[in-house]
Amino acid sequence: MNKVVIIGQGYVGMPLALAASKSGIEVLGIDTNIFKINQINAAKSPIEDISDDDLKTALESGIYKVSDKPYFDTSFEIVCICVPTPLSENHQPDLEILLVAVRDVGKSLKAGMLVIVESTIQPGTTRNEVIPILEKESGLKRDQFLVAYSPERVDPANKAWKIGNTPKLVAGLTPEAAHKAKEFYSKFVDQVDICESLEVAETAKLLENSFRLVNISFINELAMFCQKIGIDIIDVVKAAATKPYGFMPFYPSIGVGGHCIPVDPLYLASAAKEAGAPTRFIELADQINLEMPKYFVGRANEILGGLKGKKVLVIGVAYKPNVADVRETPVATLIEGLEKAGASVSWHDDLVKTWNSQTSVPITDQYDLAIIATPHDYIQLSKLGNTPLLNTRGSK
Ligand SMILES: NC(=O)c1ccc[n+]([C@@H]2O[C@H](COP(=O)([O-])OP(=O)(O)OC[C@H]3O[C@@H](n4cnc5c(N)ncnc54)[C@H](O)[C@@H]3O)[C@@H](O)[C@H]2O)c1
Repeated sequence: MNKVVIIGQGYVGMPLALAASKSGIEVLGIDTNIFKINQINAAKSPIEDISDDDLKTALESGIYKVSDKPYFDTSFEIVCICVPTPLSENHQPDLEILLVAVRDVGKSLKAGMLVIVESTIQPGTTRNEVIPILEKESGLKRDQFLVAYSPERVDPANKAWKIGNTPKLVAGLTPEAAHKAKEFYSKFVDQVDICESLEVAETAKLLENSFRLVNISFINELAMFCQKIGIDIIDVVKAAATKPYGFMPFYPSIGVGGHCIPVDPLYLASAAKEAGAPTRFIELADQINLEMPKYFVGRANEILGGLKGKKVLVIGVAYKPNVADVRETPVATLIEGLEKAGASVSWHDDLVKTWNSQTSVPITDQYDLAIIATPHDYIQLSKLGNTPLLNTRGSK
């Protein structure tokens, strides 16, 4: 239990590596991206939630090491897999990155080791895809090693809920695997709950993120209605949220982005379709989500009486406030739509700084319209002067 390999040093793998190493566990973080490995070795944290100082301390203590080589020796007891599980170009689950990582793990796997998958996957993937690859690559039978699934609940930039105080789910192929996984996480997570099966844990993660997508899309749809009748959706949500039970507030936006909320529900929808029990809510929520940027292009067009030749400043391009992450950001589609309609678009986001070979511009009053897409805390709107404003976060 004292030596762990963590495959993938991204938003999930790196906080896990640091938390485990802080609890005294020796960690080898593997990432095939050599630039990231060099950056980590230079104690430059690639993740907002991890400070350079914390990274430096972990590296200097020798308890956290990183490597770009996808193999490890027999001294390691546990391997956690935290690599991306994106959507393909046709908006379908794409497991290729995960399966490559699993093949690599299989090549180093020895009897008695525990492999924990943390990447978000469809129900049945650990049992039906991961385990057979581990068997094939290692030459071992499934009862000679241990396998568990433990979905990650990292919420970048969340100041209240961190890895230590966010309850963690684990499930094992066998009770022994589940208990060993629980023992591992319990060293640095306050509450670890064992699920009934691998499939329950896999589906629970998909439920959590689908719940968010469906509710955010619902509120965004309602926001369009409120705008039409001239009331503020925020006032409506706040009023409804005075009910102390049976209601949870969600707030409007330009749509969801990032690696999880727009992606994971599609894993569930595709599994549900395959099982002959389609999840129509998810499909509709996905559609509404994808249409939100287009809706705001229409609103901008209305405000300016046409977009041709108009100067528009988009404020905040990251997928959510206070992070520099632009993966799956809906702001990309907003900018594309505005430009297609003839507007000259600039963007401001000093967290993202450069994106799509462009650089963040200062906020000034030299625009026909400013659109608040992602309101980072640092942004000062007073610099806009009297520039007309379109706020995607709700206002009449
Ligand atoms: N980002 C989040 O907030 C979040 C939250 C919960 C769950 N998840 C899930 O966790 C998983 C990982 O997401 P992430 O956000 O950490 O991704 P990420 O892109 O930030 O990091 C993944 C890392 O894995 C590396 N990698 C890819 N293939 C590899 C291989 N074969 N061997 C070693 N390293 C490899 C990449 O270079 C990258 O650095 C995904 O399934 C995601 O859905 C993410």
